[in-house]
Amino acid sequence: MSLFRTKDLDRSVAASRAPGGLKKVLGPVDLVLMGIGAVIGTGIFVLTGTGAVTAGPALTLSFIIAGLCCGFAGLCYAEFASTVPLAGSIYTYSYVTLGEIVAWMIGWDLVLEYGLATSAVSVGWSGYFQSLIAGFGLKLPVALTAAPGALPGVTTWFNLPALCIMLVLTTMLSLGLRESARVNNAMVVIKVLVVLLFIAVGARHVQPANWHPFMPFGWSGTLSAAALMFFAFIGFDSVTSAAEECKRPERDLPIGLIGTLGGCTILYVIVTLIMTGIVPYPKFLGVDHPVSLALQYAKENWIAGFIDLGAILGITTVILVMSYGQTRIIFAMSRDGLLPARLAAVNPRFGTPFFATWLVGIVFGLLAALVPLGVLGELVNMGTLAAFCLVSVAVLVLRKKRPDLHRAFRCPGVPYVPILAILFCATLMAFLSRTTWIAFLAWLAIGLVVYFTYARKHSLLNQQAAAKPRGIAEQVRYE
Ligand code: ALA
Repeated sequence: MSLFRTKDLDRSVAASRAPGGLKKVLGPVDLVLMGIGAVIGTGIFVLTGTGAVTAGPALTLSFIIAGLCCGFAGLCYAEFASTVPLAGSIYTYSYVTLGEIVAWMIGWDLVLEYGLATSAVSVGWSGYFQSLIAGFGLKLPVALTAAPGALPGVTTWFNLPALCIMLVLTTMLSLGLRESARVNNAMVVIKVLVVLLFIAVGARHVQPANWHPFMPFGWSGTLSAAALMFFAFIGFDSVTSAAEECKRPERDLPIGLIGTLGGCTILYVIVTLIMTGIVPYPKFLGVDHPVSLALQYAKENWIAGFIDLGAILGITTVILVMSYGQTRIIFAMSRDGLLPARLAAVNPRFGTPFFATWLVGIVFGLLAALVPLGVLGELVNMGTLAAFCLVSVAVLVLRKKRPDLHRAFRCPGVPYVPILAILFCATLMAFLSRTTWIAFLAWLAIGLVVYFTYARKHSLLNQQAAAKPRGIAEQVRYE
C-alpha cells in the first residue's frame, strides 16, 4: 500500500546532520523562551474577555482543563520530539510511523493551523497597536484599520497594521534565526515581567465576593470557554519544529515543551483568578483588552498602560514563533518532495529557507489584512486539536512498531496518557461550532485532492521506489 509507505527514520536523522542543512544554534533556554514566546499572547491578552463572559470566574477552571489537555498531548510530543529530532514536528513523526498519506494530511492541517494562527494573532496585534497610537492622538483612516466586514456598519477595506507587522517579522526571520531568537528572547522577558507586574499589583485589589457564583453557566459554559481558551496554549508545540536547529535535541526538546506548558498554565491560572476577582465577570462583555481593563477598574491607570505595551510586545513574539514553525513544516514537506523543491531551498548566506519564509509571510499577511479575527480563531483551535489527537495515536503506534528505538524522553503512563490526550481533545472539539467543522473538513478535502494530483507523484519515496526494480521497491517501507 504505497499510500502508507513510511520514511526510513535512521536515514532521515543522518541526512539532517549532513553539512548544508539548517544551522544548529538553539539551547534549552532558547527553546523555553521560544515556547513562551509562542504561547502567551492574544489568548490571555484579548480572548479572556470572551472567556470570562462564557464561563464566569470558572474561567480559571477552563484554563486548567485546556492546560491538562495540552499537558497530556505535550508529554506525547516530548517523547516524539526526543526520538525523532527532525524539522517538521508531528508531520515528520507521522511520516516515519503512520505513513505518507497521514503525514501529508497532518502537514496540510499544520499549514492551516500555524498560518491562520499568525494571521489571527496579527489582527489582535493591530487592535492593541491602534489603541496605543490613539493614546498619542494618532489615528489611521478607518478604511485601513480592519478587514472588510469586520466592524458592523463601518466600511473597512484592509487591516494595514496587521499586514505590516507580518512583513516586518518576515524580514527578520528570513535574515537569520539567531538574530530573530535574540530579539525574541528580549521581548519574551518583557512580556513575562508585564504579566508578573499585573499579578503583583492586581492581587491587592481582589474582592473575593466577585468569585461567587463561581460557575454561573455550569459545566457547559466552562467547557465552551475551555475550547476557546485552548487558543491561549497554542504554540507550545512549535518548540518541536525547531528540532533540527537544536544543539542537543534529545535533552533540550522535552525541557522546552514541559517548561513552557507548566510555566504558562501557572501564569494563566493566577492572572484569570485576579482578573475575575477584581472585575465582576459580566463587565468583560465585548472587551478586547481585559487584562488592562482590570487594572483600569482598580484605578491603576499607569500600570494598565504598561500592560498594553507589554501585550503588543507579547503578541509580536507569538507571530514570530508561529511563522517560524510554519516555514519549518513547509520546509520538511518540500524536502520530502510533497511540495515544490523551491520551498526547501536554504539560502547559503543566511542559513534560512528564504523563499518559503517570504511566501508564508505574504500569503498569511494578506489573510490577516482581509479576514476578520472571529473567522480565523476557531479554525485554528480545530486544526491544532486534530494534530494533538494524531500525535497521541502516533506515540502508541511507534511504541509498538519500534520498541527498540532510543527514547531520550519516555511519555509516562502509556497507554493511559495518550488515551487521555485523545479524550480531552475530542471533548474540546465537540464544543466548537458546526461552521468550523465544515470549514475544517473542506480544507482536508482540498488536501486530499492536492495529494492525489501532485504530492503522491512527486514524493521522494515514490521516486526512490520507481528507480528500483520491483520487489526491492517494497523495502522503501520502513520496517
Ligand atoms: N497561544 C497564542 C496566543 O495566545 C496563539 O496568542
